[in-house]
Amino acid sequence: MRTVYVNGEFVLEKDAKVSIFDRAFLFADAVYEVTSVLNGKLVDFDNHMKRLHRSMKELNFGTKIKEKEFLEFHRKLVSLNKINEGIVYLQVSRGVAERDFAFPPSDTELTITAFTQKKKLIDNKTAKEGITIITVDDLRWKRCDIKTIQLLYPSIAKTEAMKKGADDAWMTQNGYIMEGTSNNAWIIKGKTIYTREADNLILSGITRRAVIEVAMKLNYKIIHKQFTVQEAENADEAFITSATAFVTPVVKINNTRISKEKPGIFTQSLREACIQQALATLK
Ligand code: PDD
Repeated sequence: MRTVYVNGEFVLEKDAKVSIFDRAFLFADAVYEVTSVLNGKLVDFDNHMKRLHRSMKELNFGTKIKEKEFLEFHRKLVSLNKINEGIVYLQVSRGVAERDFAFPPSDTELTITAFTQKKKLIDNKTAKEGITIITVDDLRWKRCDIKTIQLLYPSIAKTEAMKKGADDAWMTQNGYIMEGTSNNAWIIKGKTIYTREADNLILSGITRRAVIEVAMKLNYKIIHKQFTVQEAENADEAFITSATAFVTPVVKINNTRISKEKPGIFTQSLREACIQQALATLK
């Protein structure tokens, strides 16, 4: 059984308790981060903390987090649960208060919880074979740049995709691809890589940023511009990025096969470079 983290304590998952008045439970008033673990160490931890900090600031969470303390309990969870490859899920909620739509006083104590999951991130079926995607209307709110736990719509969209025999969904607005249910969306046309600019309508992925860096080092051309479903279906290659997916090929969009329904060469080289870059950030 896993050991999890609840407000400063490490407890067995069966003994972990959070109040039913927690605002995460009542209002999805919480933010989260998912940090990958490779070789028993954390990938890109500093950037995850930066984004967590930003999410909390955008939602006017009163208390600031102590990065050093967060690093320590992440490391301890990884070691207690013997995670060589997998993730740490971290959630910070505004805390416990009587149910009221208005925010509680800013000195309300945050609820901080974390747990690990073992996962094969590097050598897995989706990396080898790619994933298939359907497109669905994006019905989320207009602050998707904040990594909140309001994940019901992405959850509906992914379930819908799986019901239709696909692996995931890309969400669209006015015919443009925004992002995946839990990843950023990319296409390659000729020698150019396209990704939508990160504004308030998508999450600015930590992996997205790493891939931009890697691609620039490799002198690949990247255009930060939104693309349509049709452009995606006509792409030479397509892929997703996220902490858990790194770069994972997309081989079918709706009914259109991409790069002969096999991971593209360009995508594979980006995946390789992205993993190398991740290994260089281990903490
Ligand atoms: N999801 N867009 C959305 C909507 C996401 O939920 C995620 C991450 C990303 C990619 O961000 P990053 O590269 O920082 O992981 C983009 C995580 C992995 C999750 O919810 O499990």
